[in-house]
Amino acid sequence: MSGLLSALILLIIQGSLAQRVRVEPEVVSYPGQTVTLRCQFPNPGKLLTQVSWIFERTDVQRIHIAVFHPVFGVNYPTTSSLSGRVSFVTDPPSLENPSIKIREVKMTDEGRYICEYATYPSGNEQGVTSLVLLAKPKNIATSVTVTAGKTPVIVARCESSNGRPAANISWSTALNGNVTMPIETKNPDNTITVQSAYMLAPQPSDNGKDINCTVSHRTMTKPETFPMKLVVEYPPRVKIVGYDNNWYRGQTNAYLTCQADGNPVPTTVTWKTLSGLMPETVQVQENRLVVQKVDDTVNTTFICEVRNSLGYGRDQISVFVRDSVHSCGSTEAVIRLVLSALVGVATVLLLVYD
Ligand SMILES: *[C@@H]1O[C@H](CO)[C@@H](O)[C@H](O)[C@H]1NC(C)=O
Ligand SMILES: *[C@@H]1O[C@H](CO)[C@@H](O)[C@H](O)[C@H]1NC(C)=O
Ligand SMILES: *[C@@H]1O[C@H](CO)[C@@H](O)[C@H](O)[C@H]1NC(C)=O
Ligand SMILES: *[C@@H]1O[C@H](CO)[C@@H](O)[C@H](O)[C@H]1NC(C)=O
Repeated sequence: MSGLLSALILLIIQGSLAQRVRVEPEVVSYPGQTVTLRCQFPNPGKLLTQVSWIFERTDVQRIHIAVFHPVFGVNYPTTSSLSGRVSFVTDPPSLENPSIKIREVKMTDEGRYICEYATYPSGNEQGVTSLVLLAKPKNIATSVTVTAGKTPVIVARCESSNGRPAANISWSTALNGNVTMPIETKNPDNTITVQSAYMLAPQPSDNGKDINCTVSHRTMTKPETFPMKLVVEYPPRVKIVGYDNNWYRGQTNAYLTCQADGNPVPTTVTWKTLSGLMPETVQVQENRLVVQKVDDTVNTTFICEVRNSLGYGRDQISVFVRDSVHSCGSTEAVIRLVLSALVGVATVLLLVYD
């Protein structure tokens, strides 16, 4: 009970103390502007003797930038980095309105500004305003052309430069790579450059996949999204299609097709046979190999080799020339017969249903 009571009393004391010297908790500005830092001490209930403004750039750096004493007048210490740019709003100022303005605000003016009253007999009382300086960052994103491989490499980069405060960078993608730890670099003018990258062990199938980088910053009304597509280079992947395992002596117009993809786009397609000799009955038409009439010379292994600037890929297929069409053809005929019988049954069923 007594604990609760003392907690309540503490709250009341804190509340009343916090209320005494009135300032704005935060003032936001861009470089080059003029900012006004307001201060008031309503109903002090004690004697006010002097008011000072103190600039705290860091926890250890504390300098007086403006002082007013009703008898001794105004003083702006020349040692301050704000010297010449800071002044009381009213001339002469008063203990009732010791607000100041800072002209040509710089990035390095960011920090805590303390309005401190000296009172009699109870000492100093203060209010603290944080001056926040904003700088709109310049954002860029680029995808990095990479070669397919097993080790993770950077596939996309995103950079938000010269912003204040530091921008937030996030990624969105269906890829299962990793986002690197963002690197924040502080520039001499107090702005911050943030770099983030996306890492992945790139596979050929990742080429062209979507990846988005999103930059959010206090100066931007909505986050900026950069849609990108991955660029993964890889040697051609090759596949021969068109062989149905049923080439027979005397068959006309059999053909094989060499399918290939690669990045960069493959430049050359080369057909070969394992023996090195291309049968006379075979015609090569780019990625097609046409057999005008199947004979025993076609009973061989065909190889298709496709190149791009990264290298080549190949596939091979062994053709087995059969004696005649009939062995397989008869099975086909049986299947046809069964199929047409089934269609017939279905037709009868439909008629009955009607
Ligand atoms: C990337 O952003 C675009 C446009 O904002 C959106 O249509 C797409 O779905 C996003 N893709 C991913 C992977 O988040
Ligand atoms: C991503 O991070 C996880 C866990 O930190 C790690 O196991 C994995 O190897 C990383 N993957 C890549 C592509 O860097
Ligand atoms: C950036 O991220 C921090 C921490 O996650 C968050 O507090 C802040 O509001 C974010 N800023 C913006 C502009 O989204
Ligand atoms: C065709 O090649 C196979 C081996 O792939 C061989 O067993 C067969 O005897 C050959 N047939 C003819 C007609 O040359």
